[in-house]
Amino acid sequence: MKKWIAGLLTLCMMMSMTAAMAEGFTTIEAGKLTYATSPDFAPYEFKDDADNIIGIEPEIMALIGEKLGLVVEPVEMDFNSALLAVQTGKTDLVVSGVTVTEVRKEVMNFTVPYVENQQAIVFKEGKEISMDNLGEQSIGVQAGTTGQSLVEDDFGEDHVVAYDKYPLAFQALLNDQVDCIVMDDAVAKAYVALNPGLTMVQTTYEIEDYAFGVQKQNTGLLEAIDGVMQELIDDGTVEKIILKWNE
Ligand code: ARG
Repeated sequence: MKKWIAGLLTLCMMMSMTAAMAEGFTTIEAGKLTYATSPDFAPYEFKDDADNIIGIEPEIMALIGEKLGLVVEPVEMDFNSALLAVQTGKTDLVVSGVTVTEVRKEVMNFTVPYVENQQAIVFKEGKEISMDNLGEQSIGVQAGTTGQSLVEDDFGEDHVVAYDKYPLAFQALLNDQVDCIVMDDAVAKAYVALNPGLTMVQTTYEIEDYAFGVQKQNTGLLEAIDGVMQELIDDGTVEKIILKWNE
């Protein structure tokens, strides 16, 4: 082989290796970044009239995809299934208003947290429900959420009814099948605004951090996403997006 061809080949090999190293991550399908999400969670993720999944998190994901040169694809499912999808390798991420918890850290990696929320209690106007008498109520929650574990730990499973999707929990509340719903406050606010006759109060439960969950073994992807996420937090983009969708 002519010397210069061999040299060129070596150079090409080196260049492609550097490219792979610079990328430093893999996804389930090359060029694509999939995330599991339960779009019953406005303003974080919900559907528009044309059935597109929109909101704070899809918008952040679109920017991450752009920066990493990946096509971003949401995969819709119930919240519980979304938590599982990232563990079983069905999707690269779970992006679904996920609170960082010690239990979840065992089974997935979390990006840097980007926003805080707290649990609230939603109920019909005219009722007097607060942290003081929560234990006497029948409490609706979404299955698999921190809201569910908090109230089950405090008051026992008998007081709690778990629904796969928030619209079902709200239907039950409006039909008096449960007395209240315990859920994240920003989303509670959106549901209260949509449903006349409902009101809400804050709980005294600890403030929770939201982050994106990444497949445990895929530390390369975690690093890549974290890099972009940190940039978007530092330059104020994330805050702007959150404010926009909370207007
Ligand atoms: N932040 C809570 C949790 O992580 C609730 C998340 C529910 N998300 C949703 N898209 N329905 O458990």
